[in-house]
Amino acid sequence: MKKIALVTGAASGFGLEFSKLLAEDSYHLILIDINGPGLLDVKQELESKYPIGIDLLVYDLSKPECALQIYSEVKQDQIDVLINNAGYGLYGFFSTTNWQREVDMINLQILTLTHLTKLFLPEMIARGNGRIMNVSSVAAFQPGPLMAVYYATKAYILFFTEALANEVKGTGVTATVFCPGQTETNFQKTVALYSNSKLSNTSKVMANATRIARIGYKAMMQGKSVCVPGLLNNVIAQLNRIMPRKATASLVRTLQEKIRE
Ligand SMILES: NC(=O)c1ccc[n+]([C@@H]2O[C@H](COP(=O)([O-])OP(=O)(O)OC[C@H]3O[C@@H](n4cnc5c(N)ncnc54)[C@H](OP(=O)(O)O)[C@@H]3O)[C@@H](O)[C@H]2O)c1
Repeated sequence: MKKIALVTGAASGFGLEFSKLLAEDSYHLILIDINGPGLLDVKQELESKYPIGIDLLVYDLSKPECALQIYSEVKQDQIDVLINNAGYGLYGFFSTTNWQREVDMINLQILTLTHLTKLFLPEMIARGNGRIMNVSSVAAFQPGPLMAVYYATKAYILFFTEALANEVKGTGVTATVFCPGQTETNFQKTVALYSNSKLSNTSKVMANATRIARIGYKAMMQGKSVCVPGLLNNVIAQLNRIMPRKATASLVRTLQEKIRE
């Protein structure tokens, strides 16, 4: 029987990389993104290299009703792997940032991620088999002044997925939260932060998305509950054990402040 994987945000960055890894492992893919033409490119690229089937669903995953719509479109399929990856950031003081972008971000990164998990998990448990990976960030481990809502959504994903990993123990289903640091994808362009902040100047060489995605993919397949790739990111993730959160918030603010206009 064919194995089926559903990936959100599959048109670029980590989502594309996860899709390639799943294709290598002969999964039938259901790829979802807001970017229809980008999805088509991915389908063409993967179908030219791998003998797999690929279904594309174009959805704006920030729409509250989308998880149910997706579920009813694919419920005849047995989803073996669910990767909730789509996400974006927004830079600026919360007092000035665009509220609609923040509502959409919360819907995408919290509501839809949670709802898709809720819809597909019971069938995985009933079958005694399934892999879920939710993409968070190393941002999840501390407050993030100048990207306050983004960091908070990632903290939600971390805590939600860790709790889920505990709940599904012994069922044959695993939940993994993936917490990468700065990685070269389209993410930075959409955040519009990294061109002139101290953080951007300390990270001229960003991690490679192919390499980092492979680490997350392996952790998911091994059923690990948390995956933080890279030594520096692990140090960042542990900082809150030795520093008060107020101090880590100041550090993040210093790093993310613009150094020139
Ligand atoms: N790259 C990093 O440094 C980094 C670090 C930590 C965590 N992450 C996380 O990694 C995940 C993937 O991001 P990425 O770095 O791979 O960035 P990316 O290259 O921008 O990929 C994100 C994909 O999600 C899609 N998307 C955005 N909003 C959507 C929506 N409302 N509905 C459906 N699809 C939507 C994007 O489409 P459009 O491009 O058309 O908007 C894009 O194809 C995100 O959750 C991000 O927070 C990234």
